[in-house]
Amino acid sequence: MKELMQALRDKAMQAIFEADDVEKLEELRIKYLGKKGEMTAILRQMGKLSPEERPVMGQLANQVRGEIEGLLEERRKIVTEAMLEKKLQREAIDVTLPGRKPQLGHKHPMYNVLDQIKDIFIGMGFEIVDGPEVEREEYNFTKLNIDEGHPSREWTDTFYFTPDSKILLRTQTSPMQIHAMETRPLPIRIIAPGRVYRKDEVDATHSPMFHQIEGMVIDKGVTMADLKATLNLVVEKIYGKGTVTRFRPHHFPFTEPSCELDIQCHKCGGKGCSTCKGEGWIEVLGAGMVHPKVLSGCGIDPDVYSGWAFGMGLERLAMGEYKITDLRLIFENDVRFLEQF
Ligand code: PHE
Repeated sequence: MKELMQALRDKAMQAIFEADDVEKLEELRIKYLGKKGEMTAILRQMGKLSPEERPVMGQLANQVRGEIEGLLEERRKIVTEAMLEKKLQREAIDVTLPGRKPQLGHKHPMYNVLDQIKDIFIGMGFEIVDGPEVEREEYNFTKLNIDEGHPSREWTDTFYFTPDSKILLRTQTSPMQIHAMETRPLPIRIIAPGRVYRKDEVDATHSPMFHQIEGMVIDKGVTMADLKATLNLVVEKIYGKGTVTRFRPHHFPFTEPSCELDIQCHKCGGKGCSTCKGEGWIEVLGAGMVHPKVLSGCGIDPDVYSGWAFGMGLERLAMGEYKITDLRLIFENDVRFLEQF
């Protein structure tokens, strides 16, 4: 029995040394010292011993129990500390690591182009003005000398809010000419960028919403020569010095005479390429001398004052600048597209 008890001690000690977590140690305690454990099993055989041997055996049992308990306690401390240490290491925060920078967005490519144009006009003494996208027909059409019956006034072309066609989404930024003339002191030098709306189906070159930049100068003695000189300068700033332009006669109800401005293709020098679709020329804007009827309608005497105006599509300009071939990309806000600029 003595040998059995010593063997139990050796086995238990060995197992306790090898245990490396608290649960395992508890299992071992139950296995060796528990009520149904191995020590109890040995002590059950005490009955076989002589009365002199029993207290000796009892003493030995107490000693072994004490040793095992002591070792369990020691081991429990070591294992608990090691586990805590591991946990701390796992959850450690290195405060010296550099922080993660939040990703910053950037300006939309079309607004880069708009900013460039604003800078050019500000440099020439123009003011940037803003106006309503929801407009009265009077301002979008009538005061601009666009008569009843003009095709652009049709329900099929224009978004109207009311059945009497009085309120609409502006189809052009030209109503800003009227607002400027009615509210600003003369002389006037403004550009007015903004959204415009037309009933167009979406495709690679059309969208029911797009952007225009309106420009206007009203002063004494302003002529077509001023229009040409100013717009030539703007074109050179956008497309580079020496860019060739041509002013083609055109018709707008609110300017007389009217023209469209083309630039000779800056990619092929006029030979014809994919950028200019083989034409050699790229249409940039519509312009003209503000119609005397429009001036007098705003209370400005056309015998004293004259002026010029232009309207330019912003998307088309941005598409040319960044070689974007599909208008939809500009409005879809797909970051994979936008990130490239
Ligand atoms: N509003 C005209 C358009 O949308 C452009 C334009 C503006 C023409 C100013 C002449 C003067 O086509």
